[in-house]
Amino acid sequence: MKNTVASLMGMKEKGEKISMLTCYDYSTAKIIDAAGINSILVGDSLGNTMLGYPDTLSVTMEDMIHHGAAVVRGCTNTFVVIDMPFMSYQTSVYDALVNAGRLIKETGGNAVKLEGGAAVKEQIKAITDAGIPVVGHIGMTPQSVNAFGGFKVQGKSLRAAERIFLDAMDVQEAGAFAVVLECVPADLAAFISERLTIPTIGIGAGAGCDGQVLVWQDMAGLFTDYVPKFVKHFAEGGRVLSEAFSAYHREVGEGAFPGKEHSFKIDEGIMAELREKYRV
Ligand code: KIV
Repeated sequence: MKNTVASLMGMKEKGEKISMLTCYDYSTAKIIDAAGINSILVGDSLGNTMLGYPDTLSVTMEDMIHHGAAVVRGCTNTFVVIDMPFMSYQTSVYDALVNAGRLIKETGGNAVKLEGGAAVKEQIKAITDAGIPVVGHIGMTPQSVNAFGGFKVQGKSLRAAERIFLDAMDVQEAGAFAVVLECVPADLAAFISERLTIPTIGIGAGAGCDGQVLVWQDMAGLFTDYVPKFVKHFAEGGRVLSEAFSAYHREVGEGAFPGKEHSFKIDEGIMAELREKYRV
């Protein structure tokens, strides 16, 4: 069954947890969709995972549209959220509206996500008023990495915890139908989740959230250089792929691949004529 804004909000009411994974391409989207994951986030984390940048700040609208449209083509039932990249909404309410509209029109996605609380309340209101569902994102918001001085857990002091709670309330009041809580203490995330009517989707925010999101390459064990505390490897995908690549390299080198079963046939008579015509 197709996941929608109503079904995702209904899951919170029924006490059912929402599953979300990031995704950036058609083939992976098909696998995630078939696995029954409720929602895909085409995150601007594609700057890190797909493009090799150290942060998400260089990601463009064109990057998001290119990857977002590919993911949407791979989905049947999964609800697709497209991230608004850095400086596509902070500059003005008008820019936010135009760029949210482009993301939906040019990808076919179901909703947009943007980072920030009180500071982007007007943007969230304008986008939702235009009929585009919005997911908020508060706590450790990667587009503010330079202001935070690094990727650090947020909300540890009373003042900071209260700020995050009030941001969550602002995001809800502005019309967002869900909010991502990133890298905040588990007790604070549970406190916020109990007080909001919209679902919270946690990443590094403990089990008290209404749903969870992870970067798919992290949870599939493709990146092992650095494993954040909040990541669990549900597979050792990096090892599996590495073994496959090595085996391919070996078999190509040995002439063992391709075998007869991987090759196409031609009529013997035609080959005989060709050999006759072009003798060596
Ligand atoms: O871009 C992204 O992948 C995200 C998640 C980490 C929530 O925003």
